[in-house]
Amino acid sequence: MTEQIDWGNLPFGYMKTDYNVRCYYRNGKWGEVEVSSSEEINLHMAATCLHYGQEAFEGLKAFRCPDGKVRVFRMEANAERLQRTCRGIMMPEMPTEKFCEMAKQVIMLNERFIPPYESGASLYLRPLLIGTGAQVGVKPADEYLFIIFVTPVGPYFKGGFSVNNYAIVRDFDRAAPLGTGTFKVGGNYAASLRANKKAHDAGYACEFYLDAKEKKYIDECGAANFFGIKDNTYITPKSESILPSITNKCLQQLAKDLGMNVECRPVPTEELSTFEEAGACGTAAVISPIGRIDDIEKGQSYVISKDGKPGPVSTRLYQLLRDIQYGIAEDKHGWVTVL
Ligand code: PLP
Ligand code: COI
Repeated sequence: MTEQIDWGNLPFGYMKTDYNVRCYYRNGKWGEVEVSSSEEINLHMAATCLHYGQEAFEGLKAFRCPDGKVRVFRMEANAERLQRTCRGIMMPEMPTEKFCEMAKQVIMLNERFIPPYESGASLYLRPLLIGTGAQVGVKPADEYLFIIFVTPVGPYFKGGFSVNNYAIVRDFDRAAPLGTGTFKVGGNYAASLRANKKAHDAGYACEFYLDAKEKKYIDECGAANFFGIKDNTYITPKSESILPSITNKCLQQLAKDLGMNVECRPVPTEELSTFEEAGACGTAAVISPIGRIDDIEKGQSYVISKDGKPGPVSTRLYQLLRDIQYGIAEDKHGWVTVL
């Protein structure tokens, strides 16, 4: 059946695979891991995930490598970020060890869906944790369900590693400084849908949010962090309302390894025009090089790529990251698990 999949032209979308893995939290503890071939879940209509947004998710990738092995990238870091999110919306934390065991199990159970190396596609893991216990008053549930499903995916932004244009949307905020923007919860994405449609309808790859308080600084885009490059320096926003991107942290480390400086600080919109290169980065996006950012409400354009091609530093960082993910370059920082 998988012979019919056009691996080289996969969208970033859902495809049914063979199995998912599940674990229930009841009576104050996590139960045994269950393997399921159902795509559905049975849910109480008063479950807190449906009413009060007790939903957290993660995103990570597994790769079929040229040496024939399967590698999964930054599994522990994703487990730890999920725990942080759980603390943020009062859900029980899934221990790192169990998270990793389940991730490895679901990858191997769906091995035939891991795209071939040559396709450039990967197997995307989507862990999610939801409050399943019934409540009508606003309070945390007493029962939870953790699931990991997988789906083979292609690039998130058009063309993968190719230049796209982005739009700053001043008439929407995705997250407030002391809100949930720093956690990976479904509500942040619901809050992004209208702005995302506006950007897409106007022909942009994605919307960029400014800091909600002053509307002066770049926060992040709908599904990825921002970085800019100039004067041998990797610059990325410091903000209370953005997701701490694991890809961004890897790129910061790789930039340091290349002898670059790294600055994590507020990035005012006016600075955009001074960058030699810029990109959106994340698990789904990897690096999506930025051609131009239009501040649509202000009628201002910041051109970053003059020739419509990815810049040399972004290209180097992209290749280094991919080579580590595919086991081609040495995994100096212990980011990869070989299955
Ligand atoms: N920012 C947002 C809002 C995201 O949804 C994502 C995707 O996970 C990222 C940034 C990138 O984070 P990561 O590199 O950990 O995938
Ligand atoms: C990811 O990069 O893993 C994301 O979660 C982004 C998006 C698909 C929500």
